[in-house]
Amino acid sequence: MKYNLYQYKKEIPEGICLFVGKESNYSKFLNDEKQIKYLNSQFEKEKNIVEINFYDSKFYFVNFKNETISNQNEKIRESGSKMTSVLNSDKIKEINIIDVDKDADLINLFVEGMILVNYSFTRYYKEEEKKKPTLGILNIYSSEFKQENLSELEKITDAVYFARDLANEPFSGLNALQFSEKLKQLAKSSDLNVHVLNKKDIEDNGMGGLLAVNKGSEHPPTFNILEWKPENAVNSKPYILVGKGIVFDSGGYSIKPTKNSMDMMKFDMAGAAAVAGAVKAVSENRLPVHIIALIPATDNAVDAKSYVPGDVIKMHNGLFVEVLNTDAEGRLILADALSYAQKYNPELVLDLATLTGAAAYCIGTQASVIMGTADDTVFDNLKQSGENVYERVVQFPFWDEYKDMLKSKIADIKNIGGSEAGAITAGKFLEYFTDYPWVHIDIAGPAIMSKKSAYRTEGGSAYGVRLLYDFFKNMI
Ligand code: BES
Ligand code: MG
Ligand code: ZN
Repeated sequence: MKYNLYQYKKEIPEGICLFVGKESNYSKFLNDEKQIKYLNSQFEKEKNIVEINFYDSKFYFVNFKNETISNQNEKIRESGSKMTSVLNSDKIKEINIIDVDKDADLINLFVEGMILVNYSFTRYYKEEEKKKPTLGILNIYSSEFKQENLSELEKITDAVYFARDLANEPFSGLNALQFSEKLKQLAKSSDLNVHVLNKKDIEDNGMGGLLAVNKGSEHPPTFNILEWKPENAVNSKPYILVGKGIVFDSGGYSIKPTKNSMDMMKFDMAGAAAVAGAVKAVSENRLPVHIIALIPATDNAVDAKSYVPGDVIKMHNGLFVEVLNTDAEGRLILADALSYAQKYNPELVLDLATLTGAAAYCIGTQASVIMGTADDTVFDNLKQSGENVYERVVQFPFWDEYKDMLKSKIADIKNIGGSEAGAITAGKFLEYFTDYPWVHIDIAGPAIMSKKSAYRTEGGSAYGVRLLYDFFKNMI
């Protein structure tokens, strides 16, 4: 997408125009009584988008009605995304967006919805161009919406696209090494530092969880460290993000039991993608917060060399874990990363992971499930950010009684709980590897869209990028 920003006074620009404002003000853009009547009658009929055609141009008018969404900001984003779908089905390439009410926030939200829905993943079509949305140029006419607003929005949505591209890339194009290459490219184009630990380094660090999951793989694991350290950082101890980077999850010997449940498992690195996207957005917008992202990456494959149920492995922090299900692999690689995070003496650690089917069953695609040991204010801030950007979170209990379900008969702990409370026992497992304030964010539901919903396109949603960006922005 290309963006142009123009100072808007009064003259209606040439070309196809989209008027964004409160519907009552629209009549001044039409000089024909009949047209005004038509516009009003259409809006009364609960139409969200009204189109008026002229010989050489076209006007679109929108309103922000949506009975099912109570969040006003989300109504506006959703309206922007609906409008964009209409523009694309009308094969429109360039649109003039007119800020009718001199309302920068309104334009920001509306354009955000437009950009977020205009994403497509087309690299595996022979005739790629034909599969892309036609809309490519947004001309914004406003007196209030400023270049800095546009630039921030552009960088956030770029990071969302980046995270979606990573998530949507199949395992055939994204093994752990290839994932690390993408991070190196990112670091080159941003002001970020990246450091990739190879298999030897991972062995030297005693990351037994990551190594066990990787045993059956054709590809070596990587452990990726991304850092954004601005001179004017407001925090002296770093914030650490940990992302689950399982580039494909077959389940291993405890092979995925449910029909078709393996089909989506290229997305099992959505947490890693979200974390990388968030650091990209924060660094490119130069937010003064010191952030480190830790991303363990591997696939979970079936092979003669694979780890098997009953194996006992020694983790980075020295704990022994009895593996009773090789499909509970995410917690094993995250555990090593969480334990590694201790050396930074972090202010707070947040991990994002497509960790359990249980979380997705509980809450669906509408929210992630969060739990942990951080202060209530951290949880409150996350909930507030979730509402702000509409990547909502729901807090689950984290009582110690759940720990009993992880008792092993031959080792410190086992890697599965029982048949109940699967999202929570996974979190409780991770807690053994933390010694700092921490929030676990299970994104198994909202990270993967089996069909498009508003501006969340099918496939990887990049859930978490906007949530984390807003969370960090509010710290300043
Ligand atoms: N990657 C899966 C969780 C998942 C399921 C993510 C569906 C997205 C959609 C994870 O590795 C897994 O297999 N978890 C198991 C844990 C169980 C064996 C304790 C699960 O949830 O079934
Ligand atoms: Mg699994
Ligand atoms: Zn997994």
